[in-house]
Amino acid sequence: MRHLITPLDFTTDELEKLFDLANDIENNKSKYSKICEGKILATCFYEPSTRTRLSFESAMLQLGGQVLGFSDAGSSSASKGESVSDTIRMISAYTDICAMRHPKEGSAMVASTAASIPVINAGDGGHQHPTQTLTDLLTIRSLKKRLNNFTIGLCGDLKFGRTVHSLINALVRYPDVKFVFISPEELRIPDYIIEMLKEKDIPFEEVIRLEDVMPKLDLLYMTRVQRERFFNEQDYVRLKDFYILDKAKMKLAKEDMLVLHPLPRVNEISIEVDSDPRAAYFRQVKYGVYVRMALILTLLELA
Ligand code: CP
Repeated sequence: MRHLITPLDFTTDELEKLFDLANDIENNKSKYSKICEGKILATCFYEPSTRTRLSFESAMLQLGGQVLGFSDAGSSSASKGESVSDTIRMISAYTDICAMRHPKEGSAMVASTAASIPVINAGDGGHQHPTQTLTDLLTIRSLKKRLNNFTIGLCGDLKFGRTVHSLINALVRYPDVKFVFISPEELRIPDYIIEMLKEKDIPFEEVIRLEDVMPKLDLLYMTRVQRERFFNEQDYVRLKDFYILDKAKMKLAKEDMLVLHPLPRVNEISIEVDSDPRAAYFRQVKYGVYVRMALILTLLELA
């Protein structure tokens, strides 16, 4: 039995197969519409979500399966003090596969050791968000036709942003990827990631001004400054509008640069950018459903 706790749980060859499957699902939906009949997906979300929870549920429903779960720790027995390990034992008796989001780092890993069904990490605190990473990689591969040989700028909250940490971990396995980290001093990329890049001799630079690096980017991964990860409101208010991608900044970018964002956005991308053909963040959302369909099939050994 396999789980997905970090993006590194799949080799790059396994990811290629997963992405091929996701693209086949995209192009031949009816072929897959009954494949999960009789199977149940649990979505156990101890933290808010729109995209991840609903895209998992949509994925399972489109595969012919069923879904159950909770979207708020307060409506589960976690509010009475039940542990994640005990909860997943119950969920294992009720369902065939579980997607779990939890505010504490390592929770999905703990759940996977107690589970008798596949567990998918749908985000654990500021640590990892592997299915967002699968979404990001599938989007890049589908729209750029490659997962190597590009310069990617990651902008915003690089300190707490689990989508950023997961994506870097995944991209370092592909050749000729250069990283440009764009953040205020307070939200710099963690030292352990810098050390990992140095050890692997992977090129990177850290800058504060987005304008200075726009012309060199093939991909720009924007992120939200996350109110929920700050210890005080003052710091959040000071930093929340540090970056706003607008038409003027897009004029500095390459004609074929793509803008990605895991969403939700707040102010960091002006809505005037939405109509720019380089804005790929709403297309990214669709790839999130296809890749989660492919993941469910793979972990249930149905494909
Ligand atoms: N991208 C993402 O994780 O969005 P949600 O928080 O809405 O699930």
